[in-house]
Amino acid sequence: MTASATADTGENPSSELEDLSTQVGDEDQREYDFIVVSNRLPVDRVVDDDGNASWRRSPGGLVTALAPVMAKADGAWIGWNGATSERLDAFSHNDMRLIPVSLSADEVEYYYEGFSNATLWPLYHDVVAPPEFHRHWWEAYRRVNQRFADAAALVAAEGATVWVQDYQLQLVPQMLRRLRPDLCIGFFNHIPFPPTEIFAQLPWRGRVIDGLLGADLIGFQRTSDASNFMRSARRFRGYSVKQQFVHVQDDDGEVSHIARAEAFPISIDSTKIHELAHDDEIIERAAQIRRDLGNPTKVLLGVDRLDYTKGIGHRLKAYSELLDDGTLTVEDAVLIQVASPSRERVEQYRILREEIEGSVGHINGQHDTIEHTAVRYLHHSYPLEEMVALYLAADVMLVTALRDGMNLVAKEYVAARVESNGTLVLSEFAGAADQLDEAVLINPHDIDGLKEAILKAVHMDPDDAKRRMKKMRREILDHDVEHWSQSFLNTLREVTADRGTASE
Ligand code: G6P
Repeated sequence: MTASATADTGENPSSELEDLSTQVGDEDQREYDFIVVSNRLPVDRVVDDDGNASWRRSPGGLVTALAPVMAKADGAWIGWNGATSERLDAFSHNDMRLIPVSLSADEVEYYYEGFSNATLWPLYHDVVAPPEFHRHWWEAYRRVNQRFADAAALVAAEGATVWVQDYQLQLVPQMLRRLRPDLCIGFFNHIPFPPTEIFAQLPWRGRVIDGLLGADLIGFQRTSDASNFMRSARRFRGYSVKQQFVHVQDDDGEVSHIARAEAFPISIDSTKIHELAHDDEIIERAAQIRRDLGNPTKVLLGVDRLDYTKGIGHRLKAYSELLDDGTLTVEDAVLIQVASPSRERVEQYRILREEIEGSVGHINGQHDTIEHTAVRYLHHSYPLEEMVALYLAADVMLVTALRDGMNLVAKEYVAARVESNGTLVLSEFAGAADQLDEAVLINPHDIDGLKEAILKAVHMDPDDAKRRMKKMRREILDHDVEHWSQSFLNTLREVTADRGTASE
């Protein structure tokens, strides 16, 4: 593996392509039958005490689900390694071939922090923060998407399956189809797809629709996301949509292929969580967490990336009002709030951190005693083992997202509750609400309703709680992330096997 800094020379397609072929090397070209393309590679760099760097597989369900598919199908994963202006050659890690895509400092700022996370992210999450529209951000998004498409075109074997992930790469399917019409192309959007009236604001809305329609199969979290997309394809591109199918036209107006859009709700590695929840050390760690908190009667838990879509402020408001009213006291209850650091160079995230940390300070100042705290706030990320200990320690899990594609934390909590006790309070605006309808469902904007739901969860009759949790656990154990990837890939196979006849 070699790394070297590259100067930001701006756009230069032919030298970019040359550069890409040296990075990829002859042995990788036209080699792989299954390729995943995502903004980030599924590895994190770790540096030991002596300063030696190595790679560790990132936590998360996507890589767990896809690693076996990769191993079986001779696969490769294309993505950014998270650093700025660092050019890495392709390398192997745990039987997976990784093809790094490099981003310059300007591209990190305009493509990743800008267009992906300050334009698309708020726009696709009900504009809970105002999206910014800048033409030079769009230009960088287009250029970087082309680089990912070029890399996939270079390493894909004839007729390979390429699965593109998420909103950062919506133009890749069309770009890739133009380069390699022989490929089977899937796309999955992990975040919501907005209603047409909101999507309409995007100055490049038609280009994004065209980008996605380059795929044979476009997967969404919820049925409503798939129908929002289809409505936008009709309105902004004039396509007539038959059920889930669109006859996509090329530049000459000829039908190039039939694209299908459908919901495939993502899930978690339920088996892994179930196993960890039976691990004696983790069970003991959960007991220790409760002891360390002064053995409160009820432990409430929130676990989120520190993101304005998660409704952390709404949750804190409801909780603090319950303490103000005296309905809950710090002797009875404690709220653990894990807020993992995220996108810290983006302005809206900085503002949010100040707001949340201000509220926590205010609530604790008002209600803490020497022995007890109201909110134990943790601005850290934790390994899965510690997360499972927290899930086991918590009587009530609070998921109050204002909008969320799925919310895997809700599913992890359910998978970890092996005794079928504990209660999940879940926002109806999270995709998980479609599968977990035995949770206490809430509208997080309704603070009184949220307070009532928290109290209902805290005081729920144990038999009722058990009945609900059992049903939810069955759902999550039957529909894990492997089920998700298999059903997407099976449908993609079906769609591409039937090319040209799918809608007849
Ligand atoms: C969401 C997105 C992912 C993204 C993750 C973390 O789950 O759907 O695509 O990777 O957030 O965000 P980050 O910007 O750190 O990659």
